[in-house]
Amino acid sequence: MTTHRHPRVLSGVQPTGDLHLGNYLGALVKFTRLQHEMETFIFVADLHAVTQWQDPKLLKSQVREIAAAYLAAGLDPEIATIFPQSAVPEHAELAWVFNCVARLGWLDRMTQFKDKAGKHKERESVGLYTYPVLQAADILIYKATHVPVGEDQKQHLELTRDIAQKFNHDFEVPDFFPLPEAVIEGPGARIMSLRDGSSKMSKSDPSDYSRINLTDDADAILQKVRKARTDPEPLPETPDELKERPEAQNLVGIYAALEGRTTAEVLTEFAGVGFGQFKPRLADLAVAKLSPIGDAMRRFMADPAEIDRILATGAGRAREVAAPTLAEVKSIVGYWAG
Ligand code: TYM
Repeated sequence: MTTHRHPRVLSGVQPTGDLHLGNYLGALVKFTRLQHEMETFIFVADLHAVTQWQDPKLLKSQVREIAAAYLAAGLDPEIATIFPQSAVPEHAELAWVFNCVARLGWLDRMTQFKDKAGKHKERESVGLYTYPVLQAADILIYKATHVPVGEDQKQHLELTRDIAQKFNHDFEVPDFFPLPEAVIEGPGARIMSLRDGSSKMSKSDPSDYSRINLTDDADAILQKVRKARTDPEPLPETPDELKERPEAQNLVGIYAALEGRTTAEVLTEFAGVGFGQFKPRLADLAVAKLSPIGDAMRRFMADPAEIDRILATGAGRAREVAAPTLAEVKSIVGYWAG
């Protein structure tokens, strides 16, 4: 690309239930790191949440809970812009234009829709199908260049780039939208279930023992790590030797991500050690890192008015950036109101 872009981070999390270790390591940790490196916009995806049924009586407090998790994880509202998606209508307006740019064939390939819809896609909302188009609008309304996410969002980021490219091409506005990069690297990008190393740690898993929630107390964390599935072998010397051992790989990956180290570094320390010894070390580390976050979340949640103030201020700042982009898009498309 020839034009110089102002680097800008954008990401978000859906308010659809308790946040878990995968959300924390795959997303929140990266948000807090990147806020010191680039201009950062982090939102709560309440428009996305209602692609599947959400109780209207609970939704607002779920939004506050995600905001509390952001703050507890270290996002600083003086540095990063934190806001609810529904407070910035430009997202939904741009999504309409993108609905007319994206092709059905592109959406038909989205694996997350297939996973969520299962066998009965005809019963899902149309919103769930076009979910990734709204996600592209979330990112491109800010002309964001970097999107920190877990590995499961890689395909949605590729679609975002395809939409940006097609818009720029069809309307003959080369470089109008950037082609944003997913920031995925590191051992935290794909945290697996503690009960099954082949499936992702997820809010929707029926077993609470499959995940560590950010609000779990020390006792629950210790129990869950103790019960985590493993194999009988000691830990090997190199990451390559973990390839056929998904549960072992996951626990070592969690340890590495929590400490901000690589899997290779962790194995240098623990090679030859069995899970009888490794699990207590992992549990202690998880408690040390997560308990303060759970405590801070509860403190923030005790003052919902302060969270609302932060979200309203963030929404104002976000609109200052989103509104000019939408105005440009309307004029490019040729809308009467453009
Ligand atoms: P959500 O709420 O489903 O997930 C939030 C973030 O957590 C990451 N994640 C994981 N990372 C590692 N291991 C796991 N087991 C794991 N499970 C979840 C997700 O990759 C995500 O980064 N579609 C987004 C929400 C969104 C968004 C956006 C993100 C809407 N618009 C624009 C970025 C930019 C999502 O999956 O939310």
